[in-house]
Parts: sequence; C-alpha cells; structure tokens
Amino acid sequence: MKLPVYLYGHPVLRRKSETINSDYPELKKLLDDMFETMYASEGVGLAAPQIGRNDRIVVIDADPVSENNPECAGRKMVLINPVVEILDGEKITRGEGCLSLPGLSENVTRIEHIKLQWEDENFTKHEEIISGFLARIVQHECDHLEGKLYIDHISPIRKQLIRTKLNNIISGKTRCDYAVRYAPKKKK
Ligand code: NI
Repeated sequence: MKLPVYLYGHPVLRRKSETINSDYPELKKLLDDMFETMYASEGVGLAAPQIGRNDRIVVIDADPVSENNPECAGRKMVLINPVVEILDGEKITRGEGCLSLPGLSENVTRIEHIKLQWEDENFTKHEEIISGFLARIVQHECDHLEGKLYIDHISPIRKQLIRTKLNNIISGKTRCDYAVRYAPKKKK
C-alpha cells in the first residue's frame, strides 16, 4: 500500500526518531509499504519520518542510479537503527533532492566515506564502510532520523533564494504527482 509522503513544514520531519526493537508491530508490512511508496515516487531512499513515523527505519534502493554510480548496483537495503560514523577524507559536492521537498534540488557537500552500523529487518547487526553516492544517500536518510533535511546543509544565501519555493511547499501550493501530506495549517 502506498503511503502519503509528509512534506516540508510538517513537524514530524523535524523530530528526532526513536530506536526500535523486534517488538515493533507489523514491521514487515511497513517496510513493504515504504518500498512501494519510494518506488511510486521514484526515490532512491525513504526514512520513516517521511511517512509520518518518528522511528529509526530507512529503506534504500540505489540500483536505479547505478549506471553513473557503480557502488550503488544492487544495493537494496533496510536500515534499522542505523549509526553513521564519519571517516576522515574528502568531501564531495553534488546535487540532491528529497521526496519531502518536491521540485527542489540543491548542491550539498558531504563526506565521501562513512562507516555504517545498522540492523536489517531481522534485527541482525551489520557494519560496512560505504562510499560515493551510496554514502550520500545513507547520510541524507539518516539525517531524517535526526530531524534534519538536506537544505539545512546549504548556505543562508542559497536558502534565501529558494525561500518562495519552500513557502509554497509549506502552504500547500506545490503540486506533486505522488500522494502527499502537507503541513498542518497555522491558526491565524
Ligand atoms: Ni529526504
């Protein structure tokens, strides 16, 4: 079942998410729904706050961008309670978008190599050094679990330049070809 994607301005995107354990109700169904929602909106990653839940759950399928990013080939992942450790080394600036910020894309500078620890859907622990665009996707999605968005990484001037677009998302004026949930209207 496709779920509505919560858009910029909704408070659920700004809260820190909670660690989950194997008692989590209907996790399998939720993961299926998250993948279906992500594929329907042509995203390569989706974090639980984006479907309205402040839980530390991320789904990623980076395979669609593997043509230009070989490290992404076949990388379909469920990240439960992920922890990103930034490794020393180069930073790369590349364009980034987010399903919660439709119609926007901005350059974001991120670390190229990370150490990722996570649990899969069976709560088996994993650890891996991840690089390149896959590391970027992971950092973007794990930011969501901290209540952070990629636009928090851009310069104040750049943010000022996209202010109108951001306000249009908040006020529900942005059209989107996937199901969305807008921010609650502010009481006047
Ligand atoms: Ni995002």
